[in-house]
Amino acid sequence: MSLPRFAISGSTRFAEQVQDPVAEAARRRTFAIISHPDAGKTTLTEKFLLYGGALAREAGAVKARQGRRSATSDWMALEQQRGISITSTVLQFPYRERVVNLLDTPGHRDFSEDTYRVLAAADGAVMVLDAAKGIEAQTLKLFEVCRQRRLPMISFVNKWDRPGLEAIELLDDIERRLDIVATPLTWPVGIAGDFRGVIDRRSGEFIRFTRTARGATVAPEEVIAPGRAAGEESTAWAEAQEGLGLLQAVGADFDEEAFLAGEATPVLFGSALTNFGVRLLLDAVIDEVPAPSPRLDVTAAPRPLDAPFSGFVFKVQANMDPAHRDRIAFLRVCSGRFERGMVVTHARTGKHLGTKYAHQVFGQERETVEAAYPGDVVGLVNAGDVRIGDSIYAAEPVDFPGIPSFAPEHFKVARVTDTGRFKQFRKGVAQLDEEGVIQVLRDDDIGDQAPVFAAVGPMQFEVALHRLRNEFGAPVELSSTRYTVSRLTDEESAPRLRSMSGVDVLRRSDGALLALFESPYWLDRLESEHPELTVEPAFGGNHP
Ligand code: G4P
Repeated sequence: MSLPRFAISGSTRFAEQVQDPVAEAARRRTFAIISHPDAGKTTLTEKFLLYGGALAREAGAVKARQGRRSATSDWMALEQQRGISITSTVLQFPYRERVVNLLDTPGHRDFSEDTYRVLAAADGAVMVLDAAKGIEAQTLKLFEVCRQRRLPMISFVNKWDRPGLEAIELLDDIERRLDIVATPLTWPVGIAGDFRGVIDRRSGEFIRFTRTARGATVAPEEVIAPGRAAGEESTAWAEAQEGLGLLQAVGADFDEEAFLAGEATPVLFGSALTNFGVRLLLDAVIDEVPAPSPRLDVTAAPRPLDAPFSGFVFKVQANMDPAHRDRIAFLRVCSGRFERGMVVTHARTGKHLGTKYAHQVFGQERETVEAAYPGDVVGLVNAGDVRIGDSIYAAEPVDFPGIPSFAPEHFKVARVTDTGRFKQFRKGVAQLDEEGVIQVLRDDDIGDQAPVFAAVGPMQFEVALHRLRNEFGAPVELSSTRYTVSRLTDEESAPRLRSMSGVDVLRRSDGALLALFESPYWLDRLESEHPELTVEPAFGGNHP
């Protein structure tokens, strides 16, 4: 039997002498980037690494970028190769006396539960918008998750180096679509497509950028006093001043309290491709995203940062390394100092886990590391049945709230095509369910013969099929269902719901009952005609 090993994604390689968890937590900034595909998340991530001086590590990110842009089938190939978009989980780099943990949200175009879960481990988010497009569908969905978690969010209007909407229009789009106050920290000089620099609204100074070839190096910046800027940038400057006047009139000033409550978003303008505005954005992350703070447990009691080590699992990934066939559960450290070799307890089962081997995972590369602090991400290798949402601790027990799952919108019936492989099918389905690759729903009468796979995004089905076939040797066929909406229900309402047409009730593996509806119309009607029946809204449950 192999011992559980720890892998650390994000280590303390930058601060191994300092040991006080409170001081270390104060230095951490743990955040994620959210965006609609193509808005520039990958480019911005690369540029953050450039500014963080971690360029040597850029290769992996570039690789992910290629995979990201390719078609679905190529993404599956990437999945097979276990590229960085799947394995990286967190990119850690030092910046201005701080340790930045940039959590990697899954790179594929599809929307999946993984992204939600990653956001549960973040203290803030950067929302990247394409200057020509404003708020797009996926940004909107991801934003809703940030709002639900009251996650402070900084907005970055990207691609200002090419024609796009007007700055005021973009602010209006953010405010209208997201119902959040937009408070620009910087204001562009030069319309989209003729980008000269930005005015830092806090100081009034003009920061002029100079282009470098494809943004391969840090963009030179020149800080220019307003008087000189007015002379040198004439029309663009005058227009920018007009915009600033408008902002002044509506009082769109940064309000820290509103930002921390997730009610206002500071906005910065820039161009990740040319590096314009990237430093200012990274500075805003450092200055504004809150450092890790004591996490509340299930009883709403805060776990002090200097309490013994604790954390919660937000992602499980099996077979990241085909040579090892292992399974890694990633956890965010919430308190104390993680040390290689310590014995920790798995809260749900009470079992002890050894941590003899500690690694840092960066792409496919693993290094032994010694310690991690609040805000860092630690990977448990082959740690039994540790699942998403589970808590792990040393010495003083703690149970953190699980990670809510999301009402799936895609449902397919799964059947093994080679009945001789039913055992493998069952095992594989259980494994994928546990990892949260898909949610597995069963009819109480039919059981495992034809479970329904439920997903937030359809790509989850492809991953499930691929893994069932390749890892478990179970060829599976998926057939469509009529259902498009789901809600949580209870034992009392289930029989009535089952008797209605256009509705079915299936059981999730955690025992929760899900009512599936053919259309939102059915659901609306049911809610108005039968208020006595339980159909709970989208977020809920603690699956798996
Ligand atoms: P994503 O991860 O959010 O999907 O976006 P990604 O960074 O891959 O960027 C998508 C496309 O947008 C890329 O172009 C990228 O170069 C471009 N891009 C990103 N930031 C900027 C920017 O600030 N200005 C401009 N003009 N373009 C930007 P591509 O043509 O798909 O690829 P490539 O040939 O440029 O690599």
